[in-house]
Amino acid sequence: MKITVVGAGKYGSTTAQRVAQADYADEVVLTDIIEGLPQGLALDLNQSRPLEGYETKVTGANDYAATAGSDIVIVTAGKPRKPGMSRMDLLKDNAEIVGSVAREIAATSPEAVVVVVSNPLDEMTALFQRVSGFPHQRVMGQAGMLDTARFCDKIAERAGVSPLAVEALTLGSHGDTMVPVPSLATVAGKPLQEVLSAGDIEEIVQATRDGGAEVVALLKAGSAYYAPSSAAAKMVASIAKDTGDRMPVCAWTTGEYGVSDVYLGVPAVLGRAGVLQVVELDLTEEELANLREAAEAVRSKQADVDSLG
Ligand SMILES: NC(=O)c1ccc[n+]([C@@H]2O[C@H](COP(=O)([O-])OP(=O)(O)OC[C@H]3O[C@@H](n4cnc5c(N)ncnc54)[C@H](O)[C@@H]3O)[C@@H](O)[C@H]2O)c1
Repeated sequence: MKITVVGAGKYGSTTAQRVAQADYADEVVLTDIIEGLPQGLALDLNQSRPLEGYETKVTGANDYAATAGSDIVIVTAGKPRKPGMSRMDLLKDNAEIVGSVAREIAATSPEAVVVVVSNPLDEMTALFQRVSGFPHQRVMGQAGMLDTARFCDKIAERAGVSPLAVEALTLGSHGDTMVPVPSLATVAGKPLQEVLSAGDIEEIVQATRDGGAEVVALLKAGSAYYAPSSAAAKMVASIAKDTGDRMPVCAWTTGEYGVSDVYLGVPAVLGRAGVLQVVELDLTEEELANLREAAEAVRSKQADVDSLG
């Protein structure tokens, strides 16, 4: 199993670390345009193997020869936000970067399953699929796993319980039209509505939508990467090990929830072939309406992206 991480910045390097440390891949290839950066990080990561007790080798490279024949590719190349920026402000710059990565990956790893994380996420996922020409099933984006983790953690903090006692789900876009789904959330098995007030839940939903910006504002340079890399690594493990786990991912829709022909955050079953199935859950009317609104917002932006890349 060969896994490539494109982009050796904060997100890419921590993802390479998490994937290598999980020790199911033969090799993780880390690439970047900055000379020496992926090679230095690879050296450092490999030297942690005797301490951490895993064997997966990390290779650093500045070209795509080392990535050839990858089974899975994670695309983290691109600019992160600065304080005050929206993810959409990254559109033009990152479209150029993700477009060039898609051409290289299509040429060198034509059978890969691809997880895009570069922002704006839904648009960059669509762009990668279009430029690579890969089947939709093999190109997905990571956002829902991260947004769900933020939602769960905020619920746990407010309810005063362990984050492990909370189950929840976040769908929609990775942006203003994110759709946290309180109706399906539970705390220690109890419906969220029985544990927190409607006002508390509304505040947490909004704080979840603003979760990325909250970190960006504090860091002042760059955006979050610990939870984001955990989210991508979970998806990659599920694909690599063909687990059939269901998780929220940015996937191509074909009529589910009344939405078609757009990349959107939906629950999906992941396996070795990529997105095996988009799952339709029972949402409230309001949640469903919000999800459809998110789909239309992403669709109109994706039309802009069609001229980029
Ligand atoms: N989907 C999510 O949930 C989520 C969460 C956090 C960050 N992000 C996004 O992930 C991306 C990366 O974030 P980061 O914190 O790692 O940023 P970063 O600036 O630390 O790293 C980005 C890296 O990409 C490299 N790069 C630029 N062009 C490249 C190219 N053509 N080929 C290969 N590498 C290239 C840069 O040299 C840099 O090392 C950003 O777009 C950010 O907005 C997404």
